[in-house]
Amino acid sequence: MKPKKISPSLLSANFSNLEKDIKMVEEGGAHLLHIDVMDGHFVPNITMGPVVVEAINEVAKIPLDVHLMISDPDYYVNAFADAGADYITVHSESTNHLHRVLQKIKARGIKAGVSLNPHTPLSVLENILDNVDLILIMSVNPGFGGQSFIPNTIKKLQNLKKMLKKHNAEHIEIEVDGGIKIDNIKEVSDAGCDIFVSGSGIFKAKNPKKMISEMINTLS
Ligand code: DX5
Ligand code: ZN
Repeated sequence: MKPKKISPSLLSANFSNLEKDIKMVEEGGAHLLHIDVMDGHFVPNITMGPVVVEAINEVAKIPLDVHLMISDPDYYVNAFADAGADYITVHSESTNHLHRVLQKIKARGIKAGVSLNPHTPLSVLENILDNVDLILIMSVNPGFGGQSFIPNTIKKLQNLKKMLKKHNAEHIEIEVDGGIKIDNIKEVSDAGCDIFVSGSGIFKAKNPKKMISEMINTLS
């Protein structure tokens, strides 16, 4: 079985002191740092670019899980690779040349991920399974933290598990992003999730460090 990993989303962290929050989640036992890059075009919000990712990389000890919510990610793969990304995930809806972008990410020796919006069918994955290390299923519409988990995601995850089995691709990590909290993390895990992104579920908790270890305990 693949190890279960917690990837706190820095979108809900304190941007005036990211270093403090990064250290806090590392001490809590987080496995990855989820970094949401938004361009105000692919999604209706703007966050950060490679310069900030580079600064995060200087202080972070755990791997950087970079989620690109930007149009035409092809143009920016190298910039985020140079900034220190360990995973780069692009949206299937954001490019006409998904296969080419994935090749570009892999060529940099980085883990390549594909993300699907809630309305996007799993069938878009069928011809690129050989080129991905991670599949990110959005359980909210991308753009903002603090939204509610879309219940249909559970069925989508179960179908994705079947699809990966059928194609002998069970080594691919399944990540879920949006509305994950302590009270639904087990259900998401049972449906097949390996990597759990949680922003408000961790950073808005009374004790974020403790929340991460509670999440880890719930999964084990
Ligand atoms: C949403 C982002 C998420 C977001 C999750 O577009 O991709 O990573 O930060 O936040 P929560 O866990 O609060 O739903
Ligand atoms: Zn995200």
